[in-house]
Amino acid sequence: MRGYGKVILFGEHAVVYGYPALAAGLSQGIACHVTDERLPCFTLDVPQWKLVLPPDDPSPLGEALRIILRGLPPKEDGRRLIITPEVPSRAGLGSSAALIVSIIRALLDWHNLHWPLEKINELAFQAECAFHGTPSGLDNTVATFGGLCYLSDRDRYPCPFSPTRTFLLKKFTAALLPGLPEAVSFVIINTKKDRETKALVAKVRALIEQKPEYYHGLMAKIGAFAAQGYSCLQQKNYQKFGEMMNRNHQYLRELGVSSPELERLVEVTLASGALGAKLTGAGGGGCLLAFGPGKETDIVHACHQAGFETFIAEIH
Ligand code: PMV
Repeated sequence: MRGYGKVILFGEHAVVYGYPALAAGLSQGIACHVTDERLPCFTLDVPQWKLVLPPDDPSPLGEALRIILRGLPPKEDGRRLIITPEVPSRAGLGSSAALIVSIIRALLDWHNLHWPLEKINELAFQAECAFHGTPSGLDNTVATFGGLCYLSDRDRYPCPFSPTRTFLLKKFTAALLPGLPEAVSFVIINTKKDRETKALVAKVRALIEQKPEYYHGLMAKIGAFAAQGYSCLQQKNYQKFGEMMNRNHQYLRELGVSSPELERLVEVTLASGALGAKLTGAGGGGCLLAFGPGKETDIVHACHQAGFETFIAEIH
């Protein structure tokens, strides 16, 4: 059972001020399997991270597991939950939400319960609070539903498309958008440079306070890419989509949230055939997203040569 990872295709940072953003669930995420082994309580085992989590573990992950178990019917004995991460953690790809959703779905399956996705999303939001204190609700929504999601302050920027569902999140409204005519692939490259979303958001806020008119103008331009980008994917206008990624990255650079590693990767990916490349998430490190339909193998090879890890993710 899987929870989806996520990328922000357009609009990070601008969305903090209510401007639109476009996020997408990845085909990869985190998978969870419940074993038959009977244990006195539930234990989490993540072989890839060399992590075995005892039931009373005080970490955020331990707390998240307890929140999940409290939300499900009680059982007399426990099981081992084997976790398989398919996306890197702490890289802006929504791994904590994907992990939470995978555990909920695996346990529901084990209990033989069929919950609507909305109910899974609600419990996932509660468990996400153990990790992030006050999460926006975006990551758990995309981890649960997958697909494409248009986020905005709906009063100022209503969704211009006909969403399949909408959710009122903490700061904005998430509108789930109809799927694409064909799946598109992105190369995701991990700089492995640690960064903190909170510090980067504060850095951008300081800039805006200095020159509000200029930076709000920039944010409005970034926000406009969300709707245009989705239309391009629907129309299979990949050239224009790539150009918009490059322009969005330039604006993010102006906001001071790129990094030398990200800039190096922009050069490497564009030189090896990508139509567009941009940071995804808060920036300052984390991951770069490169888009080059048909050129994925060349892009991956060039990034490996430059010493970076990559994976290819599909968006539907
Ligand atoms: O890197 P992440 O996945 O934490 O994404 C942060 C996105 C921001 O727009 C910078 C902040 C936010 O709350 O939307």
